[in-house]
Amino acid sequence: MSVAPQSDQLLTIRTLTDADLPAFSAVLASAFLIDHNDDFLASERTVFEPARSHGVFDGAEMIGSGQLLTRRLVVPGAGPIPAAAVTSIGVAPGHRRRGVLSMIMRTQLAGLHETGEPIAALWASEGGIYGRFGYGLATQYVRLALPRGAAFRRDVEVDPAPVRELPREQALPLIRKIYESVWADRVGYLDRTDGAWDYHLFDAEPSRRGQTAYRFAVHPEGYAVYRTRQEWQDRGPRSPVTVRTLVAANPPAYAAICRYVLDIDLVGEVTMRLAVDEPLVHMLADSRAAVRTMFDALWVRLVDVDRALAARRYAVPVDVVLEVADELCPWNAGRWRLAVGEDGRAEVERSAADPDLALGVEALGAAYLGGTRLATLAAAGRVRELRRGALARTSLAFLHDREPGCLEDF
Ligand SMILES: CC(C)(COP(=O)(O)OP(=O)(O)OC[C@H]1O[C@@H](n2cnc3c(N)ncnc32)[C@H](O)[C@@H]1OP(=O)(O)O)[C@@H](O)C(=O)NCCC(=O)NCCS
Repeated sequence: MSVAPQSDQLLTIRTLTDADLPAFSAVLASAFLIDHNDDFLASERTVFEPARSHGVFDGAEMIGSGQLLTRRLVVPGAGPIPAAAVTSIGVAPGHRRRGVLSMIMRTQLAGLHETGEPIAALWASEGGIYGRFGYGLATQYVRLALPRGAAFRRDVEVDPAPVRELPREQALPLIRKIYESVWADRVGYLDRTDGAWDYHLFDAEPSRRGQTAYRFAVHPEGYAVYRTRQEWQDRGPRSPVTVRTLVAANPPAYAAICRYVLDIDLVGEVTMRLAVDEPLVHMLADSRAAVRTMFDALWVRLVDVDRALAARRYAVPVDVVLEVADELCPWNAGRWRLAVGEDGRAEVERSAADPDLALGVEALGAAYLGGTRLATLAAAGRVRELRRGALARTSLAFLHDREPGCLEDF
């Protein structure tokens, strides 16, 4: 997507080139309260797609940034589909609340509507920013905190193959292979380009926050990436283990890798970032051993209601007319008929019939991966049922067999 410079109250926006990376990275470091240095620049370089990046300029100075990464996201029933991963959003502190982010959002969505992916997704730094731009909270993650040695139920099968700690260079090809074998079946997971791997596991000193470098525990069919830190208290060692990702191809391998991170000596507590319906909780002898805290994860935006809704499959047949509100993308506003057949495939077309449900486009984004129910949003006053029975059926149709999980922030 290429954008010609446009004027907006003396500010201009344009597509970037390679040469813009240092200024782009400097805007981001300043916006995220980080010192700008070579490590930060190197981490931004891993995923930089200049032709899909924008800078907002005050004269010659870049004061705003935003970028679309070319990724694929797994959606219910249809596997991976192209998705624009929105990232690198930052506005210089002296230029805030003058509409810079709004310029970037409008430019991104107009470009995606013309030639891009049917959906956009992002991780938000703050929960109040993106709803106004049509993004809905689509997935959450849970942080589990467990005491070292938390026991499993006796019927849990633990794969006997050994788990080994491997140096990064040896571990990377193995864990990439394991990820490749599992991601396409997990709603909410993203494909991983080389750059995405580099970014995901970027490990410069400041990002460690006093902990060790990433450690890699690898089983033939599963892995965990974690950090730790030496800590001694009066009653003895209480080092924390923080698991960044834990991935396994089947339940016994999952049990083996969980067992491994739970049983590391000298550890007090193990915390892990996992999907909200993580099986680990149901494998514990005492489920309350796991303290669970929920956080926002992926926000999803339907770029084009028709393209996006037709790209996924649905749990049950349904035939409804949706009255969609979308101020930012007027091409989405109005009535759409969503007709889902026995095979779960949907036809989506403009309709003049009376609507069955009325909702904002952000509610559709929230429901899109099956992680937020339309019925829940209706209870929150964000979806209106106009024909009795339409809500329950449509809400059910958007669900999938498992909760979506996205554990890769980008
Ligand atoms: C978040 C950020 C990008 C907003 O940029 P901005 O140029 O000030 O935003 P805009 O002026 O276009 O604001 C558009 C609207 O969003 C609102 N808004 C902006 N930032 C907000 C925030 N952090 N929380 C809630 N609302 C916010 C504005 O009040 C404005 O509302 P209005 O339309 O009712 O007037 C900027 O504050 C920033 O760089 N923050 C630090 C880095 C960051 O968090 N980036 C986002 C990464 S996901």
